[in-house]
Amino acid sequence: MKPNSRSLAARTALAFTAPLWLAGAAQAATITISCGSVGQDFEFCKQTTAEWAKKTGNEVKLFTIPNSTTDILALFRQMFAAKSTDLDVINVDVVWPGVIKDHLLDLKPYSKGVEKDHFPAIVANNTVDGKLLAMPWFTDAGLLFYRKDLVEKYKQKPPTTWEEMAATAKVIQDGERAAGNKDFQGFVFQAKAYEGLTCDAVEWIHSYKGGNIVNDKGEITVNNPNAVKALKTAASWIGTIAPQGVLNYAEEEARGVFQNGNAAFMRNWPYAWSLGNGKDSKIAGKIGVSALPKGGADGQNAATLGGWQLAVSKYSKNPAAAADLVMYMTSAEVQKMRAIKGSYNPTIAALYKDKEVLDANPFFGSLYSVFTSAVPRPATATGAKYPEVSAAFWNATHDVLSGQATAEDSLKKLEGKLKQVQRGKW
Ligand code: GLC
Repeated sequence: MKPNSRSLAARTALAFTAPLWLAGAAQAATITISCGSVGQDFEFCKQTTAEWAKKTGNEVKLFTIPNSTTDILALFRQMFAAKSTDLDVINVDVVWPGVIKDHLLDLKPYSKGVEKDHFPAIVANNTVDGKLLAMPWFTDAGLLFYRKDLVEKYKQKPPTTWEEMAATAKVIQDGERAAGNKDFQGFVFQAKAYEGLTCDAVEWIHSYKGGNIVNDKGEITVNNPNAVKALKTAASWIGTIAPQGVLNYAEEEARGVFQNGNAAFMRNWPYAWSLGNGKDSKIAGKIGVSALPKGGADGQNAATLGGWQLAVSKYSKNPAAAADLVMYMTSAEVQKMRAIKGSYNPTIAALYKDKEVLDANPFFGSLYSVFTSAVPRPATATGAKYPEVSAAFWNATHDVLSGQATAEDSLKKLEGKLKQVQRGKW
């Protein structure tokens, strides 16, 4: 029984058909792919899958998914539980391989070893029990975007610590509001209760040297004074340099405010660069990008590792064609195009030396170490329990940001909750 098949079919928005003569044979496959809906995800997916359809004579259907990775995971898990054949190729968040490993096909027989060109840490992340469950597609790391023009106008400097960021944001916010823009905000970021808040809060805590929720040995480390300091600092931004509404912002809400010219600073992923400099953007040419600030003078820069892979569902009826599409979409040729036109960070190291890629995204070069040393969330240490760990963490963080709990109480409670989730082992 497939209780969701009607609504799932309704999500299939577009189809590309290649001329039948090109297909050469009657058994051209129809492959359904989900590849994201944030920023330009859908447009790029449409373009590259159409190229593949034309080349191979197969047909591709795009499957529309929600924006939030948390909602996408819930949807995919529901489909996997029903062994749904509605999806052949799926986009996989970097924190999922250990969670959905039983539902993905081993791509080794199809990859011809090409994974060796990709960042080894991402390939290792996508390899479970010796099986290559997903091909790296693009990588992500949190960055600080800022208004170069306004930093200059108010005779400030790009900040190196969160404390400097808050002070600079306040100066610019006060100035712009006094000049008539009542909606102007100092800083926007992701503080809705979802996976994106886990990413932001891991950065804050790591920047104050408060560890990574759970360490590599699987020990719960989150209840510590540096983590308390980090969350207190973030809570102090709400209602001062960040709007109350940020408690309900994901990536796109933050980008909307920044790109409309209504914020001095924004924490976001690299995709925001290309859109912020696009022809519809009010701030094209005015954006600076830097590493996220340190937690105080003794702190460190920290960016959370994000990114997406492409995988084939074990329930696909056309695994060979689906794997061929994955190999095409993750190839150097497609990654290069997506980097130049959409600032999606390649997972192939060689592309960071490509002149056209660097011309379009100068920070791929200047901030290269931010991308290669980004902090992974504790997905490997916590395995299949990662989604529960993360949900407990973002809820505990959200309680602090919204003033419902003190950082001390919330992290203590979180420690207890994580012990329950752990039940002895991960
Ligand atoms: C980005 C990252 C992904 C992360 C998500 C959180 O899509 O690439 O890894 O989980 O943001 O919102």
